[in-house]
Amino acid sequence: GSRGSTLNTAGNGFAGRMELYDRENGPPEPDQLERSRPTENDPIHLKRRVGLVSGVALIVGTMIGSGIFVSPSGLLERTGSIGMSFVVWMSCGLLSLLGALSYAELGTMNTSSGAEYAYFMDAFGAPPAFLFSWASTLVLKPSQMAIICLSFGKYAVEAFVTECEPPEIVVKMVALLAMVVILYVNCYSVNLATSVQNVFTAAKLVAVLIVILGGAYKILDGNTQHLRHPFSNTQYSIGNIATAFYTGLWAYDGWNNLNYVTEEIKNPSKNLPRSIIIGIPLVTFCYALINISYLTVMSPMEMMTSEAVAVVFGNRLLGVMSWLMPLSVTISTFGSANGTLFAAGRLCFAASREGHLLDILSYVHVRRYTPSPGLVFHSVIAGAMVLYGTIDSLIDFFSFTAWIFYGGAMLALIVMRHTKPNYPRPYKVPIVIPYMVLFISFYLIIGPIVDKPTIEYLYAALFILGGMVFYIPFVHYKYRIPFMDGLTVFLQMMLEVAPTTNMFD
Ligand code: ARG
Repeated sequence: GSRGSTLNTAGNGFAGRMELYDRENGPPEPDQLERSRPTENDPIHLKRRVGLVSGVALIVGTMIGSGIFVSPSGLLERTGSIGMSFVVWMSCGLLSLLGALSYAELGTMNTSSGAEYAYFMDAFGAPPAFLFSWASTLVLKPSQMAIICLSFGKYAVEAFVTECEPPEIVVKMVALLAMVVILYVNCYSVNLATSVQNVFTAAKLVAVLIVILGGAYKILDGNTQHLRHPFSNTQYSIGNIATAFYTGLWAYDGWNNLNYVTEEIKNPSKNLPRSIIIGIPLVTFCYALINISYLTVMSPMEMMTSEAVAVVFGNRLLGVMSWLMPLSVTISTFGSANGTLFAAGRLCFAASREGHLLDILSYVHVRRYTPSPGLVFHSVIAGAMVLYGTIDSLIDFFSFTAWIFYGGAMLALIVMRHTKPNYPRPYKVPIVIPYMVLFISFYLIIGPIVDKPTIEYLYAALFILGGMVFYIPFVHYKYRIPFMDGLTVFLQMMLEVAPTTNMFD
C-alpha cells in the first residue's frame, strides 16, 4: 500500500508515526502502533545486524574516548621518559590485542551476549558470574562513566578558561550535566542512542586525523628536538610501571566491547575475530602517531604539567581554529560515555535474565523499550563517583578491578580447554596467548599493591568478595524481602516499566 506520509495534516509530533500505516487501512489500533515501533534496527530486539564494518566501529568507537587526550601526561609522569612511555603505550596495545584474541575464542564458542558474565557461568558456575555482574553494575561501568564524563567536563570548561586552572567544582557540574543528557538520550530511545553513537564516532575520527596530520606537518617542518633523547630520566620502579600501564590501558579499554553484543553479530565466528584483528591494531597505530604529534609541539616537561594536552596542541598548531581541539575532545568523550551507558544497560539484562540482579533493573519502559531503571541506577552511582572522585584515582581503581576480571576470563578459557574439550571452537587462539595475558594480569593486580599498598585496593577486593553476602540469601536461596515486591510494583508504576520475557528472542 502507499505510504501514509501524505496524511501529514495533523502537523504535530505525529508526523513520524503517520508513515507507519497504510492509507487504505486507516490508523492502526493503539497497540499496533506500539508494536510497530521497534524496527529491524532496534538493538533490544536482538537481530543480527552488526557486520564487519560496524563491528570495527563498535570496537574503535569505544576504545577512542578520553584516554588518548588526557592520559599522555599521567603516563609520562609515571614512566619518567618519553621513550619508556612510548614502550608502555605500545605494550598496552599489544596486550589488548592478545586479550581480545582470547576473547575471540570465548565469544565464538559461547555466543550469548554479556561477555565475561557468560564465560564465567560456563567455566566456573553461578557465584563468580554473579560477583562479576555485582562488581560491574556497582563499580566498573559507573566508574568508566564517571571518568569519561569528568574528562568531558575538563575539556569543555578548559575551552572557556584560558588564564587559570579550571575550577574543580565547575568541571564536576559540567560532568554531571553531560551525564544527565546522556541518560536522557538513552532513556528516550534506543535508535536515538545508536545514532548519537554513530555521529560521534565519525566526529572523533576526524579529531584523531587532525592531530595526526598536524604532527606530520610539524615533523616535516623539522620539529624533532623533543624526540632526540627518548630514554633519559626513565623510572624503573615496578609499581610505577604497573600504574603507568593502568593509565595506558584505560585508553585502550573497550577492546572487549564486541563480546557484549555477540548475539547481534552477523556470522560471528568470522566477523568477531576479524573486527578484533582490524580494530585494535588500528587504534594502536593511531595512538602511536598521536603521541609523536604531541611531542612535535611541546616538550616532555610541558606535556607532564599540562592538564589537557590536546588543547595545548590545538593552541600551538591550529591558530584561529584552535577551538577545534577542545570541541573534538568533548565530542569524543560524549560519544564514548553514551556507548558506555548503552553497554551497561545490556549487561544488566544479561545478568537479570538469570535472576542475578534486582528484578526492577531488568525492566524496560513500556512505550520506549529502553531499560530505563538500570540506566538510572548506573547514572546515580556514576554521579556520586563524579562528585567524590578524581580522574586519576578512579582510573587506578577501575583498572585494578577490571583486570581481575580480564584475568579471570583468561582462566576461564584455559579451564574450558580441559573441561569442555569438545565444544565447537570456530576460532582457536594459540594457548600461550591466554597464559601470557593471565600472567600479565597477575602482575598488574599485584604490582601496585606490593609497591604502594594503599587501602583502596583492599577495599576493592573486599567489595568484590562482599557480593557473596547478597548472593547466598537472595540468589542461591531465592529469599525474598517482604516489602520488596511492593516496592518493585511501586517503582514499576512510577517509571512506567515492565518485565520483558522475550527481550532476547
Ligand atoms: N578507552 C576509553 C577512553 O579512553 C574508555 C572506554 C571505557 N570502557 C568501556 N568499555 N566503555 O576513554
